[in-house]
Amino acid sequence: MSTAQVRLERDGDIAVIVIDNPPINAGSAAVRAGLLAAIDTVAHDGTLRAAVIIGAGTTFIAGSDLKEFGQPLQDPQLPAIIKAIEGCGKPVVAALHGAALGGGYELALGCDYRIAAPGTVVGLPEVTLGIIPGAGGTQRLPRLVGLPKAIDLVCSGERVAASEALALGMLDAIAAGDLRQEALACARRLIGTRSLLRERTAPACTAEELAAASAAALRAGRERPAVRAAIEAVGQAALADMEPGLAAERAMFQQLRLSVEARALRHLFFAERASARHPALAGVAPRPVELIAVLGAGTMGAGIAIAALDAGYRVLLVEQDPAALERGGNNIADLYADRLKRGRLSAEAAAQRLGSLERSLDWSRLAEADLVIEAVFEDLAVKQQVFARLDAVMRPGAILASNTSYLDLDAIAGATSRPGDVLGLHFFSPANVMRLLEVVRGAATAPEVLATGLAVGRRLRKLPILTGNAFGFIGNRVYAAYRRQCEFLIEEGAYPEQVDAALEAFGFAMGPFAVADMSGLDIAWRMRQSQAATRDPRARYVDIADRLCEAGRLGRKTGAGYYRYQAGARGGQPDPLVREVIEQSRAANGIAARPLDDAEIVRRALLAMVNEAALLLAEGVAGHAADVDLVLINGYGFPRWEGGPVFWARERGRAALEHDLDWLAAVSAAGFVRGDAACLLAKED
Ligand code: NAI
Repeated sequence: MSTAQVRLERDGDIAVIVIDNPPINAGSAAVRAGLLAAIDTVAHDGTLRAAVIIGAGTTFIAGSDLKEFGQPLQDPQLPAIIKAIEGCGKPVVAALHGAALGGGYELALGCDYRIAAPGTVVGLPEVTLGIIPGAGGTQRLPRLVGLPKAIDLVCSGERVAASEALALGMLDAIAAGDLRQEALACARRLIGTRSLLRERTAPACTAEELAAASAAALRAGRERPAVRAAIEAVGQAALADMEPGLAAERAMFQQLRLSVEARALRHLFFAERASARHPALAGVAPRPVELIAVLGAGTMGAGIAIAALDAGYRVLLVEQDPAALERGGNNIADLYADRLKRGRLSAEAAAQRLGSLERSLDWSRLAEADLVIEAVFEDLAVKQQVFARLDAVMRPGAILASNTSYLDLDAIAGATSRPGDVLGLHFFSPANVMRLLEVVRGAATAPEVLATGLAVGRRLRKLPILTGNAFGFIGNRVYAAYRRQCEFLIEEGAYPEQVDAALEAFGFAMGPFAVADMSGLDIAWRMRQSQAATRDPRARYVDIADRLCEAGRLGRKTGAGYYRYQAGARGGQPDPLVREVIEQSRAANGIAARPLDDAEIVRRALLAMVNEAALLLAEGVAGHAADVDLVLINGYGFPRWEGGPVFWARERGRAALEHDLDWLAAVSAAGFVRGDAACLLAKED
């Protein structure tokens, strides 16, 4: 019995069930129906004595069709397929290559034996999508690896490489040669036997081991509902009878898959895929890049160099200042030494990466580079001088990128004779860790230069988001609107610690005032000063931060900002002096303080982001509405499980959103520009 997605081939008395649903053999309803029919044939055809399940193309079932999770599930569902395998009376071998993830790995767990090609990855990533495995993964995996390890694997959603999976027991064998032939040989060996996980009990563990694994998983997973549910489900695998655990798991899966959190995480999954599609760049080949030069060995330069070394590029780090070059180079070497010490990198890999780094004070060496990423001081005149020098020294066809956070890319490109070769590559700190990369398109940037920026970004394992050249690009512009609104809130009656606590309770990694203290209040201060002459004098302006800076309170680095910092303490303490500054500012501006509750704080802060997102879309700075969500989540600590400001706005619905934005405009007063909510509501997937 064969369908378009699943065919049954025969090799003597062994059935080879081939899943063929390109590109990733996603476990759709059609695939499940085909599998069920094929297993039925295996069960009832007396000439067949065993079966192999294998994927056509580049992978086994790499995951489920996520679109299905938001809708009523179609029969047959995966648990029924696995039940059929268990009940077919003949051994079934799962032959894995590429990826066997989620439902794909659960299917393999329902078989008698798991053999994989080298390079395969296996795992149960469901928790990262706000759900739990729903087809026995939480019951069968613990029977292989024990409950504590299963908690770790299910809660982290880790993708495990074949060699490690073999060592853990997640796989029974790794094929040395042809996967299909070796799987067939396994199936022949197993004829007449069964070896189902349903029949096994999980290896024993102590209550302490279980408690420690649960506590670690809860901590790492920020106690999200899916993490809690996964721990509860895996706990059931301690019972000898698997049925109650399967029923409990399925019930939790069904409930979670329709939750707002799971929808938010699916939204982000599709947003990433939509964001990578650039019709205007279709068919545009990136230029080859092998040697990346990084100019400036400060905080960002060193981080960018590490990211590039990790991705296998050769890196040339260039400075003007010998001491800064020495410091930056040492920072890079220290990071590799630390990774080596923690066992996160082999000695050979560390040596190889450091060996790919060259440091130089000699600008003429830049002629060798295919791409230079400038990370010098944030000052337009300095950057223009630097780009004029780069123009003189870089070879024709080389790409000139700036890591500027705010400056006008076109003004920088204008200092060169080749603005088409100039783009922005805006990394986030720490640049070797943060996943976000804004790829900034200047007025003259050539398509293949943009395509190269995006390709390099992907090779650096970043999430490259294309943005237009506007003050603050996407992220800093939205963040600035959010911060401005939070300043309004303290002017109206809240205090920084209340605003921070409300937004941290919503899920931000840090509240805006704690963030401001950490980055230093002087950066924004300087920016406000530079904009003072052009600012609309009627626009609402909160001067509290200026007063703090004038008092020498520049944030953590000076021991005080919005908070007071004691040496050795992790966080800051609320400071009566700050209250005084705030109260004086209110009095000077004739504002009578009123109590603000946490709900209003969160609503206004998020609406400010939403409004700015609408403006960015209308201006064409952001290409897709959901790009704003990707930027805020991957660069600014917005809680992933809330889906981002645009997802949040869509959840409110059109009418409520229009009403809310009118309200935000009214409370924000003069200078507020209201965006058009309509551009946020068109979905990308
Ligand atoms: P930094 O002050 O730590 O490092 C700048 C380095 O550039 C210094 O080592 C300096 O000696 C060197 N430099 C200055 N002029 C030079 C020249 N003409 N030639 C060669 N080297 C020169 O600054 P940081 O924080 O690394 O920032 C660099 C750039 O990255 C800025 O444009 C900044 O806006 C941007 N950026 C910074 C972020 C941050 O969180 N620090 C985040 C994203 C972007």
